Amino acid sequence: MLLDEKPSVCVMGLGYIGLPTAAVIARSGCPVLGVDVMAGVVDTINSGKIHIEEVDLEGLVQGVVSRGNLRASLKTEPADVFVIAVPTPFEDAHVPDINYVMDAATNVAAVLKTGNIVILESTSPVGTTEKVRDLIAKLRPDLKVPGLTNEIPDIAIAYCPERVLPGKILEELTNNDRCIGGITPRCARKALGFYRRFVRGECVTTSARAAEMTKLVENSYRDVNIAFANELSIVADKMELDVWEVIRLANRHPRVNILRPGPGVGGHCIAVDPWFIIHSAPDDTPLIRIAREVNDGKTGHVLEQASLMIDELPAVPVACFGLAFKANIDDFRESPALKIAAKLARRYGSRIKIVEPYASELPAAFDGTGAELIDIDTALENCPVIITLTDHDMFKSIPLDERAGKVVYDTRGIWPDQPDNVQVVGDLRLAS
Ligand SMILES: NC(=O)c1ccc[n+]([C@@H]2O[C@H](COP(=O)([O-])OP(=O)(O)OC[C@H]3O[C@@H](n4cnc5c(N)ncnc54)[C@H](O)[C@@H]3O)[C@@H](O)[C@H]2O)c1
Repeated sequence: MLLDEKPSVCVMGLGYIGLPTAAVIARSGCPVLGVDVMAGVVDTINSGKIHIEEVDLEGLVQGVVSRGNLRASLKTEPADVFVIAVPTPFEDAHVPDINYVMDAATNVAAVLKTGNIVILESTSPVGTTEKVRDLIAKLRPDLKVPGLTNEIPDIAIAYCPERVLPGKILEELTNNDRCIGGITPRCARKALGFYRRFVRGECVTTSARAAEMTKLVENSYRDVNIAFANELSIVADKMELDVWEVIRLANRHPRVNILRPGPGVGGHCIAVDPWFIIHSAPDDTPLIRIAREVNDGKTGHVLEQASLMIDELPAVPVACFGLAFKANIDDFRESPALKIAAKLARRYGSRIKIVEPYASELPAAFDGTGAELIDIDTALENCPVIITLTDHDMFKSIPLDERAGKVVYDTRGIWPDQPDNVQVVGDLRLAS
């Protein structure tokens, strides 16, 4: 393929990563086919609409679909480049599940031609790209695959992890540095040529295994550091200290940067990826495992603190602010906020009101609880008790006078200016 030719691209999986990726590649002028197993997703995209919430994505998808640069299908078709962005969850006992990757690779293998590039973007245990290569070799004995031939291989296979921040995906897809790991250096060079078409950040090449581990290490680093902050918040609670003040003061040290505690760690990345390392090296990862346990344990701690607070109060409505696992997004997967709010709803029934500007209805976890989805203004008017579980900007911007007189359990530290009639105990704020 010459540099000035636009490669045709097939993106497998049209979720939070695959759809923005397909749209950004289509914007660069490449003809893109997006493949998904969900007919509803395919239909929505072909009508120029989107099924997920992401800043500026709807306009971009609408534009590239109407110009004919992006279309979606249930069926994989031949292309020059294949990008796999399907889920990689874990099964029970935290065993990584790479079946979605293998299913997608099976469909790609059926249409592969000489000269094609296959890139795995799903967060994956170390060695997965080699497993994809081995599967392709088995399914397509007619093709010479990299690492298993002494001749020039017919195809290139690489791993390139995604490190975007939900809510800023389009900006970060283009501007973040990328780490591109080839099964061989030649594979990495081929994939590099592809990413340079639409990535402005620096693209660094390495081996597939190093790139797989790099992604897992990035999220484990975050998890371990959040665990430190969460552990501090529990200790501060016991010592009747304000953890937010202690962290603020400690961070004045020029080489200290403690992260913010919260109600636990959620999402499908930071709460999941460390287990991929632990599973590969169970005897050598005590710190990473304990960090996972501390962060999961924080969710239980917040639930118990919130219950103690509610038990001490008269039977007034309690507003839980936020279900999303992080600020300004509609993603509730593995969300500690959702877990805590749903458990409170099961304990306290219709006393629990949910405020989540990114939800149009309550998730199934609230079925039969009696809890109700209300808007911010209704909560401020009717609920004397507030538990903040997600730090959406819309919550942060509620001015002090609208919160005056409320009993607030601010698990995210979003309202450091909470009025004087609220007593601060660790990360738990109680009415005095
Ligand atoms: N969402 C993030 O912020 C983020 C960030 C970095 C990395 N990742 C990683 O990217 C990968 C994808 O994550 P996501 O958040 O986009 O997941 P997602 O669940 O939002 O989307 C995955 C899509 O793949 C589709 N799919 C499943 N099996 C398929 C198959 N065999 N063929 C075609 N489509 C198939 C699903 O229907 C779904 O629409 C995961 O490995 C994840 O860990 C996600």
